[in-house]
Amino acid sequence: MDILRLTVLGAGVMGHGIAQKAAMSGIKTTLFDIDQTMLDKAQGVISKNIEKHFVGKGKITAEEGEEILGRLSTSTDLVAAAKEADMVIEAVPENLDLKKSLFSKLDEICPEHAILATNTSVLPVTAIAGATKRPEKCIGTHFFNPAAVMKLVEVVLPVGVAEETVETVMNFCKQLGKVPVRVKDVPGFIVNRLLCPLYMEAAQIVLEGTATAEEVDTAMKLGAGHPMGPCELADFGGFDVIQMAQDSIYEYTHRESDRLNILYRKMLEAGRLGRKNGKGFYDYEADGTKKLFKLFQ
Ligand SMILES: NC(=O)c1ccc[n+]([C@@H]2O[C@H](COP(=O)([O-])OP(=O)(O)OC[C@H]3O[C@@H](n4cnc5c(N)ncnc54)[C@H](O)[C@@H]3O)[C@@H](O)[C@H]2O)c1
Repeated sequence: MDILRLTVLGAGVMGHGIAQKAAMSGIKTTLFDIDQTMLDKAQGVISKNIEKHFVGKGKITAEEGEEILGRLSTSTDLVAAAKEADMVIEAVPENLDLKKSLFSKLDEICPEHAILATNTSVLPVTAIAGATKRPEKCIGTHFFNPAAVMKLVEVVLPVGVAEETVETVMNFCKQLGKVPVRVKDVPGFIVNRLLCPLYMEAAQIVLEGTATAEEVDTAMKLGAGHPMGPCELADFGGFDVIQMAQDSIYEYTHRESDRLNILYRKMLEAGRLGRKNGKGFYDYEADGTKKLFKLFQ
């Protein structure tokens, strides 16, 4: 099956990037949100991106840019947005009850053939699929931030998904210019399962005073060839998200080494979330510059 009509739920950080990429790949895309200001903001960002990075750089003509924007519509009406979709990708906040309730509604609204996908980072896709009467057509599509740029999509296979659904979604991701990787619905999938131990050990090194976050980042960038150091990357991902990911991995493995490092708990208690509020291992200024945060006196 080809995906000709896509609906994206949630016009935030991830949703608008996925919608932009889909519209650019020739797919008729509807972006749904409960908040009209988020839809207006998303449309503005997408128009600006297309103008600046594609039309402005001569990669596409102004006419092609208009065609892309013409393929993208927005809505605050879930029924109107989803009733003709071949596929829906939800990118609403990371809350299991919210995602289950949306999947249950989508199951009633969408055509029988429609595939329902979740962009969850840490929640069980099988539980979200379980809120529908079509688990064989439910799947995880874990895009990475920024979604319009990052190449990887983890295609997450919940219990009961049909091979036909997986094949369709793998092809859809390729149509978007992404590289999809199949992974079973186990906490952390692949990327977070491997990044979380790195985040934990980096925090332990900082906590015990072996090296500063800046020294850890420099060492891993220059010694291991990582484009971002683990503390910078943890700031980028957000400590709240890392906490959820780490806790879900621990619940699965029950290994002591998979417990959340106390430093992240302390940072969260101190209201430090990472880059999203400008306070992580570093303090971030509005102009993008950063300064190492002194954890303890
Ligand atoms: N931000 C990341 O780096 C990242 C990376 C990968 C995956 N994810 C996952 O993607 C999902 C979305 O994350 P985000 O960072 O884009 O969130 P966000 O907070 O930036 O955006 C969420 C959007 O959903 C909207 N929303 C809230 N309730 C809604 C509802 N009932 N129906 C429709 N829209 C609703 C909000 O108005 C907001 O525009 C989460 O599951 C998250 O775990 C995030």
